[in-house]
Amino acid sequence: MVSEQVAQVLVASNRGPVTYTLGEDGSLDARRGGGGLVSGLSAVDDKLWVCAALGDGDREAVRRGVGEPGVRMLDIDPDVHAAAYNDIANSVLWFVHHMLYQTPLEPVFDAEFRSRWESYRAYNRAFAEALAEEAGEGAAVLVQDYHLALVPGMLRSLRPDLRIAHFSHTPWAPVDYFRMLPDAVAGELLSGMLGADRVGFLTRRWADAFEACAVDRLGGLNGTQVSVHALGADADFLRARSREADVEERMAALREQIGGTGRKTVVRVDRTELSKNIVRGMHAYRELLDTRPEWRERVVHVAFAYPSRQDLAVYRAYTAEVQRVADAINSAYGTPGWTPVVLHVKDDFARSLAAYRLADVALVNPIRDGMNLVAKEVPVVSDDGCVLVLSREAGAWEELSEDAITVNPYDVSGTADALHEALTMPDGERAERTKRLAAAATALPPKQWFLEQLEALGG
Ligand code: F6P
Repeated sequence: MVSEQVAQVLVASNRGPVTYTLGEDGSLDARRGGGGLVSGLSAVDDKLWVCAALGDGDREAVRRGVGEPGVRMLDIDPDVHAAAYNDIANSVLWFVHHMLYQTPLEPVFDAEFRSRWESYRAYNRAFAEALAEEAGEGAAVLVQDYHLALVPGMLRSLRPDLRIAHFSHTPWAPVDYFRMLPDAVAGELLSGMLGADRVGFLTRRWADAFEACAVDRLGGLNGTQVSVHALGADADFLRARSREADVEERMAALREQIGGTGRKTVVRVDRTELSKNIVRGMHAYRELLDTRPEWRERVVHVAFAYPSRQDLAVYRAYTAEVQRVADAINSAYGTPGWTPVVLHVKDDFARSLAAYRLADVALVNPIRDGMNLVAKEVPVVSDDGCVLVLSREAGAWEELSEDAITVNPYDVSGTADALHEALTMPDGERAERTKRLAAAATALPPKQWFLEQLEALGG
């Protein structure tokens, strides 16, 4: 146990609120993250965040006993963590919930999978044991995401007194797709989650899909409540942060790269993630330039594709493909004064905010997405109004569909048409829509989102 005082509210997630980098001189540099959980937890006392040590810096911090108050990092065996995080959570579970399998990317459930599944169990057990150790009598424990699906059931047997919730930040697979998993694995995942008093999702669609899978595999929900908490954008934070000097500097630099006078921008900001559909988005932009040549020299696609999960070959290949397609568009259409695609791959939050402010059109076209906060953040910080081209498969679409231009993410030509429609929308209509989008996007800010879940758990 690390804390003297037992915690009354605990959060468990793979990635924690702070990451450490180990410098060449042996120094440890802490980098704090933001987001809904960080903001939500700031509103409560007697709390603890249990997370995994993710790299050498984090592991060294655990060994040296360096840490933030209210955070416990678990130094899980790196091989066990890699198998659980890379091979099960991000390769199998992520692919099932985002329906990403397609030839030649096929699921393989063989002896190697079984041994990785053992690691997934061990990794979940390490979390359950740490939570059981740290939680005060009757405490509320909020377990996050597909990495930790087995934790609620394991924790329930260790500590029946606790109030346990599980929250999924991803979509949930439809029954027929979920049936791809071996029956025992599917059953274990669902029973693990149903060990919680409540399971939460970002939209009704994902909640219904989970319920359908539980009925199909286990005959029901076993007394567990299912609820929906649609995380919104943090307007106060975003508006203040996007007016800071570093954002202004990056706006000036971006304007320089965009060039020309009155040139329009189609902006996208994503992790380089297969489900984000970045490549099809670029094909749609290419088709726009091809079929409507009047847009040449008059528009720039500003694409930020930040590295993600680079331990996995399929993510590395996707990153290379994004770069290749951007280069191909630039060599086919570029002119001395115009770079059709401005691609940045180095993560920079201030630059993302700068692009949000400048965007004429935001392209958010995921194949499937739990929510997609970019769709909610852009209208909040936009300077002159921004048209949102939004995939109907993003969770955010449930709340934003009325004022966005909807696309089927697989339909490249349809997306090219939507880009044209967005680029030609009259200023007045664009401004009105942006205002309504911002209101819908901020309906449930992160702090309320978290407190709502805590309240539902009776605390
Ligand atoms: O959408 C699920 C999620 O776990 C998010 O909570 C997170 O932003 C994202 O995936 C990033 O994943 P990773 O921790 O693997 O970089």
